Amino acid sequence: MPEAQANDWQPVSFETPSPNIARVYDYLLGGKDNYAADRAVAQQIEQTLPEVHLGVKAQRAVLRRVVRHLVGEAGLRQLLDIGSGLPTADNVHQIAQAVEPATRVVYVDNDPVVLAHARALLADNPETTVVAGDLREPGALLADEALRKHLDFEQPIGLLLCGILHYVLDEEEPARLLRELVDALPSGSYVFVHHLLAAGDDREAAATEAILRKGVGRAQFRTAEQVAAFFEGLELVDPGVVTVSEWHPEEGGPRLEENPVLRLAAVGVARKGRR
Ligand SMILES: C[S@@+](CC[C@H](N)C(=O)[O-])C[C@H]1O[C@@H](n2cnc3c(N)ncnc32)[C@H](O)[C@@H]1O
Repeated sequence: MPEAQANDWQPVSFETPSPNIARVYDYLLGGKDNYAADRAVAQQIEQTLPEVHLGVKAQRAVLRRVVRHLVGEAGLRQLLDIGSGLPTADNVHQIAQAVEPATRVVYVDNDPVVLAHARALLADNPETTVVAGDLREPGALLADEALRKHLDFEQPIGLLLCGILHYVLDEEEPARLLRELVDALPSGSYVFVHHLLAAGDDREAAATEAILRKGVGRAQFRTAEQVAAFFEGLELVDPGVVTVSEWHPEEGGPRLEENPVLRLAAVGVARKGRR
């Protein structure tokens, strides 16, 4: 073998990748971008919480309603979606651009599989771009050249944090991270948070959180009061911080009373006023 080739040679790895957040969620949504290790974690969740599929579908449905609200009613033309994930249908840019085709969208994720997937999906969508970034490093994220080029920080931006803040641990100071992001946005911008909930005596929530912590290495479910505290200093859009099914419900959508799994997530949308 020539020397250059010998040095370049890498053993082929047949190791199963460790489970990760994006692929476990993909499996629960019925997607195909997941491995055995991800399915094992997801299946433990299914055993603990058999209605979990309704919960993740409701998460996608409220994201849809929020994006339509932000672009349609609030009139935003720019969205920054951090923790965008792997979903293949009804992606944020498709929902937003169906309302207003010129809406610019930046997807951010820290998972290389998500990034590769998003880049392939977006190859022919000039209004949408994807950036590698970590919510826990807002300074670096906000300084990203492609992100700055794509979004105009003089105009309102909709910051979407759907299903991601519960993967930021208390010691990583999620409120401070959020504040740093919000401080960078102009007034008239909006913030959306979807967050998994745990009340002290909720055994299913605690068990699901424990499975995620063990399986993907992190999870921190919070109380509705703790989620509401993320919006401090912002103007909450009606009806405030509520369960997913209570935020601008669609006719025929799942109702909390008949679907107790919906108690496990809260959402809120807020506007940044003048400070
Ligand atoms: C449960 S998925 C949610 C996907 C989508 N936002 C939704 O709600 O349908 C969470 C996503 O957040 C990403 N993520 C988790 N922690 C992150 C971090 N610190 N920075 C950036 N992305 C992160 C994961 O890779 C995953 O794609």
